[in-house]
Amino acid sequence: MGASERGAEVREYRVAVIPGDGIGQEVIPEGLKALAAAGERFGFRCACTHFPWGSDYYYRTGAMMPPDGLDTLRPFDAIYFGAVGWPTVPDHVSLWGLRLAICQGFDQFANVRPARLLPGVRGPLSDKGPADFDLVVVRENSEGEYAGAGGRVRRGTAEEIALQTAVFSRRAVERVIEYAFALAERRPRRKVTSITKSNAQAYSMTLWDEVFAEVAARHAAIETESWLVDAATVRFVLHPETLDVVVASNLFADILTDLAGALSGSLGLAPSANLDPTRRHPSMFEPVHGSAPDIAGKGIANPIAAVWSAALLLDHLGEADAAAAITEAIAAVTARGAVLTPDLGGAATTTQVGDAIVAALAGT
Ligand code: NAI
Ligand code: MG
Repeated sequence: MGASERGAEVREYRVAVIPGDGIGQEVIPEGLKALAAAGERFGFRCACTHFPWGSDYYYRTGAMMPPDGLDTLRPFDAIYFGAVGWPTVPDHVSLWGLRLAICQGFDQFANVRPARLLPGVRGPLSDKGPADFDLVVVRENSEGEYAGAGGRVRRGTAEEIALQTAVFSRRAVERVIEYAFALAERRPRRKVTSITKSNAQAYSMTLWDEVFAEVAARHAAIETESWLVDAATVRFVLHPETLDVVVASNLFADILTDLAGALSGSLGLAPSANLDPTRRHPSMFEPVHGSAPDIAGKGIANPIAAVWSAALLLDHLGEADAAAAITEAIAAVTARGAVLTPDLGGAATTTQVGDAIVAALAGT
């Protein structure tokens, strides 16, 4: 149901806001400004509750979030997240203690990462324009190579062995591939590319290929293809215009989305949604980038990834028109090129870019 079909009452969404560490504190306020401006224009309101969880909270309490943190977040319609990680806390503590605890605790099994070459942005691919680079990677976000299965034996000896076992269940593979097809149904090109390494990983990846073929047979209107991951990296660089929706395992899609982010011109542009498409739990929306300690506190972080993530949040809540208006406002700002942060060659601050997006959103 589109926003215009829903009558005149103001729709309200409960949003849990976790800015986290470093530039998370700087870019999330810009996304909140865009959410408020979109709400004004499209007739909804986000009731935001802020949570001070992250590395500072860890200093004070010894944990990244309270023990009942997931119960606190459960009633919200969505979670809007900045970044976690700071040089004084080990990265596996901060990442598992907050971000992965939420992703896995709420079974947010589809990590959706769009990558577009925005108008006016010069990516490293000199012969490609915005029409050539507009894809979405769907990353399996619940198991695979990051299932946490394995162990180390004979520690510290010359015979030491480490096992890191990839876990692929038919159920998890099927649900993420189904999600990729559902997403492709909503996009103009209606194409899904599956990426594996079945020639070398002949158990897990052949299961993936079989499930992909089964799901593809249920969606005859969608064009499909399967590629090996090594060849796929070349394809991302040389022929991104042939990619639309890309679905891959946790590790492969992790690597491919960093590549896609770099090809789109800056890590400061790349948005991300951790979805529980069943809607039993709230989904979480965040920029792909981390806390960027090297530029934190300087007011120069690019807020576009965070603002675009806010658009993905609205799209998930059924506010498709408002989401499209935000991404159009972002594209208007990059196309004009007058107000850009230093990562895109400009001299503007985080706040100035956020203000420019809000102004474009309001049509001023
Ligand atoms: P990072 O993404 O924070 O920064 C990588 C480089 O990109 C830096 O040079 C940074 O200045 C630049 N950059 C990132 N976002 C930018 C933006 N919005 N505008 C302009 N430039 C931007 O990755 P890094 O440095 O490897 O990690 C820093 C911390 O963040 C670590 O503690 C890491 O564990 C954590 N991290 C957290 C993530 C999350 O919460 N989702 C994701 C990645 C890293
Ligand atoms: Mg990554």
